[in-house]
Amino acid sequence: VTERLTVDLAGRAYDIVVGAGLLARVGEFLAPVIGRRRLIVVTDETVAQHHLAALQAGLDAAGYRHAAVIVPAGESSKDLHRFADFAEQVLDQGIDRNTVLVAFGGGVVGDLAGFGAATVLRGVDFVQIPTTLLAQVDSSVGGKTGVDTRHGKNLVGAFHQPRLVLADLDVLKTLPHRELLAGYAEMVKYGILGDVGFFEYLESAAPRILALDPAVIGHAVLECCRMKAAIVAEDEREAGRRALLNLGHTFGHALEAETGYGSALLHGEAVAIGMVLAAEMSVHLGLLDKVGAERIRRHLDALGLPTSPNQVPGAPFKAARLIEHMSHDKKTIDGKLTFVLLDRVGHSRVERDVPAALVERVLTATGAA
Ligand SMILES: NC(=O)c1ccc[n+]([C@@H]2O[C@H](COP(=O)([O-])OP(=O)(O)OC[C@H]3O[C@@H](n4cnc5c(N)ncnc54)[C@H](O)[C@@H]3O)[C@@H](O)[C@H]2O)c1
Ligand SMILES: [Zn+2]
Repeated sequence: VTERLTVDLAGRAYDIVVGAGLLARVGEFLAPVIGRRRLIVVTDETVAQHHLAALQAGLDAAGYRHAAVIVPAGESSKDLHRFADFAEQVLDQGIDRNTVLVAFGGGVVGDLAGFGAATVLRGVDFVQIPTTLLAQVDSSVGGKTGVDTRHGKNLVGAFHQPRLVLADLDVLKTLPHRELLAGYAEMVKYGILGDVGFFEYLESAAPRILALDPAVIGHAVLECCRMKAAIVAEDEREAGRRALLNLGHTFGHALEAETGYGSALLHGEAVAIGMVLAAEMSVHLGLLDKVGAERIRRHLDALGLPTSPNQVPGAPFKAARLIEHMSHDKKTIDGKLTFVLLDRVGHSRVERDVPAALVERVLTATGAA
């Protein structure tokens, strides 16, 4: 079954379509939104190897003219300096104002192609065809695009909403299990931050979701998109509620920064640890009961996700260094450390001035030096 939902942004509303076998039918979804305009597909080498032929066949069958720009797989393709070369490659393909960029890949390709679409020729339309679980449930929805600088990740970017998001569940079959699990951590995030019923559903359905069982995977992806879409529609520019989506990310980003954004620790794995630490911090502050924190930890742990910094290569980390990274996070304003905390499983709030001493206490309790 193919399901659809609308991200409700005045004047720029767009649909998210979730289902199996969408690549072959791509023209049917594109045509009502962008007509027969020329496309430039942006993808990475790994996704190209597995799935580009299928996408191109779908486009050919529908009569689309299209070119491709293929970047190396991995976060380094999202580097600000590499972006210059990427923009030139897109221009080499003879882009004009009517050309539509297609981001066909994980979050890296989505952020890169999205930022390209926001800036090349001062902005062209783009479509997201996310190919990782993380991109399907998180990064392809919401319109944040950007690239990394030597000062940190995603520090140069733009809000630029796609015209359509097509999440084909079949492409997930080639995704390595570890990447799938990392994306799953972001699904858990939605349950914990705002919907205990969804968290309960995940507690029972996780093995089937991770096995990509057609009876559950589509529903689970769509529910996450629905939650993100609702938050984005309410607060596109993150003046309020959208910040809740950063649950687990203050600790998570610090660990990623310390491990160099590489394969030692994937983003979703960092978020899994970060959610457990945010729950611990919430317990310390008397907001969340210990049972709730343990329930979160147990679910992630049972699936094989890391739940403590000391499970990460390079541990033990110095609490002071992690806190230093947090103070450079772009969410930190006037040196005040911001965390999303829980008052119960399924209900969260933003805390904008958490004392460094408390952060240090939580970190040392989990083994940091
Ligand atoms: N814009 C946002 O709102 C937002 C939100 C969350 C994360 N992000 C960004 O997303 C990025 C992480 O995204 P990601 O986890 O998707 O990483 P990724 O794009 O690097 O993909 C992970 C790996 O999986 C490979 N891959 C992708 N699809 C595949 C498939 N179907 N089969 C086999 N291999 C496949 C990729 O080549 C890559 O090696 C980060 O740069 C992060 O900053 C952005
Ligand atoms: Zn994330």
